[in-house]
Amino acid sequence: MAIQRTVRSHTCGELRSSDLGKEVSLCGWIAKRRDLGGLVFADLRDRYGLTQIVFDPAIEKIAHERAGQLRSEFVIWCRGKIRSRPPGMTNSKLVTGEIEVICTDVMIFSEAKTPPFPIEDEMDVAESLRLKYRYLDLRRPQLQKNLMVRHRLLSIVRNHLDQNGFIEVETPILYKSTPEGARDFIVPSRMNPGTFYALPQSPQTLKQLLMMSGMDRYYQVARCFRDEDLRADRQPEFSQIDIETSFLDEEAFFPILESMVVKLWKEILGQELDTPFLRIPYSEAMSRFGSDKPDLRFGLELIDLSEIFCKSQFQVFQNALVPDFRGKKGSIRSIVIEGSSDHFSRKDLDDLQNQAIALGAKGLLWIKVQPDGELQGPAVKFFSAFEKAAFIERLSLKPGHLVLIVADVRNKIVLDALGAIRLVVGQKLGLIPPLGTGKPAFLWVVQFPLLEFNDQENRYYACHHPFTSPRPEFFEDFVQNRNLDAIEASAYDLVLNGVEVGGGSLRIYRPDIQAAMFQALGLSQEEAKEKFGFFLEALKYGTPPHGGIAMGVDRLAALLCGVGPIRDVMAFPKTQKGHCLMSESPSSVNSHQLAELGLSLQSLKE
Ligand code: AMO
Ligand code: AMP
Repeated sequence: MAIQRTVRSHTCGELRSSDLGKEVSLCGWIAKRRDLGGLVFADLRDRYGLTQIVFDPAIEKIAHERAGQLRSEFVIWCRGKIRSRPPGMTNSKLVTGEIEVICTDVMIFSEAKTPPFPIEDEMDVAESLRLKYRYLDLRRPQLQKNLMVRHRLLSIVRNHLDQNGFIEVETPILYKSTPEGARDFIVPSRMNPGTFYALPQSPQTLKQLLMMSGMDRYYQVARCFRDEDLRADRQPEFSQIDIETSFLDEEAFFPILESMVVKLWKEILGQELDTPFLRIPYSEAMSRFGSDKPDLRFGLELIDLSEIFCKSQFQVFQNALVPDFRGKKGSIRSIVIEGSSDHFSRKDLDDLQNQAIALGAKGLLWIKVQPDGELQGPAVKFFSAFEKAAFIERLSLKPGHLVLIVADVRNKIVLDALGAIRLVVGQKLGLIPPLGTGKPAFLWVVQFPLLEFNDQENRYYACHHPFTSPRPEFFEDFVQNRNLDAIEASAYDLVLNGVEVGGGSLRIYRPDIQAAMFQALGLSQEEAKEKFGFFLEALKYGTPPHGGIAMGVDRLAALLCGVGPIRDVMAFPKTQKGHCLMSESPSSVNSHQLAELGLSLQSLKE
């Protein structure tokens, strides 16, 4: 790599034994300084690595005297000759560990206050302090590496998409509400008092409009803004590799995306991935794993017991199978943990039950198989001899097995709760490889339902977003407003190790189907026009069949770096509460600014 050589001849990660005797100059930060009476040693750090520099009064008195002033994080320039470290003093952990620079000259560019924490990878410092001094935190080699991996990711993606005929088009940030379903961040317009822009939750409508413009293949590394509850893998502001293409179906589109992912894993991690990636319909993902983003690296699959207990005397089971007002029945499902009686104490089981309850379940039943093969647990007394036998056979139960059961009239609750319990148990039993290890498990989840019914609000929501097309075989039903619950979408998610790394769909390109969608979502014509009128109008001027996807850059980067929270692959992330601790934003604005915008604040006391 060509680094500008005017001030330094080399970087701190570059010099090796093959450079012995060379006269070099280096720049960087003092990572560590040791004054051994006569000799002064220091580690000089830059983005490229660490190099040991030495000052010896017998070789250059003035440089040695100046070296006495060096402290941690001072930024310096030095010049000297490369020599071998004495035998026994080499450091095999450093690529520069066999050599050192014996300095004849040194200059301090700038001094540094003592940093609030040591700039090292292994340190135990509250994250809030690290985020307050993020620029110091970012000096740590690990975070620098993460940002470099992120950069590699984006540059591989850009090259790949360029080679496949995609062009990068930037779209506005000051825009209008987009359909991703989170809350909008809104920005008041000074020039148009009383009106607001919304920051895009994604460039969804814009990229579809670009297809209508005939751009054919578009991509963008897009900033997206969503005001939603934050988690380790969710930030209010994040990046997507946003892609859209015309005249392609999934069969033609998936290979372009898969080969991009293959390149990422090969070039960054040196891992070969098998293609095509597995595809699993949504309904199968839910019934087998209780998740629309299943982690396929371990088993513990869900098993449906509804049929076995359809005539149960146990109230909990009976209640689950009573049809609701829309004729929908719940279910009774289980997971079986082999040879685990000793792993799970009563307290563990209570903890698991509390987690299930937090997800809306009414409880979590456990049944243990005792050494003599007898079943033990609070519900067993209600089982008939037939049910017992069928239960043991269906789950292939053996002594030592533990069964966890959730029953509920809301099927979704059963699946969500057991899906979450599956992950907790998998973690506890060590079935999930630690971050950054093991073979990555990619899959496409396909055939999502188009719509999701919300019982509380008594209305449908789009599972993906309202521009996602039904699968063609459902067009007729959909336009006629029939069997809405059964309609499948041409939507797909890319999942890796239980993380949703991308989501997309083929889009509606017929105005009548788009109108049917807004109707199914209960949007009046006026509401649809107010929100998306410009888009509906555009659909009428010649729209190609099109579709696309958005990949979460932060999540992909975190998986490539083998780290958990996406904060660790973002230069300046926010906290769970949406604060930037470094700049102390969000912050208040003065009354003059508010007045200019025609805004006033309500008292925030309550
Ligand atoms: P979706 O909402 O599924 O689809 O988002 C696509 C991908 O973006 C990532 N992602 C996030 N990453 C970090 N923080 C967040 N808050 C966050 N929210 C989402 C995920 C997700 O898979 N317009 C559609 C795409 C399309 O249809 O083409 C969309 O935005 O990895
Ligand atoms: P109860 O009859 O409510 O005292 O519950 C008896 C046992 O069944 C307790 O261990 C509960 O946690 C459990 N339980 C109650 N409801 C459910 C349910 N819907 N699914 C699974 N277990 C349940």
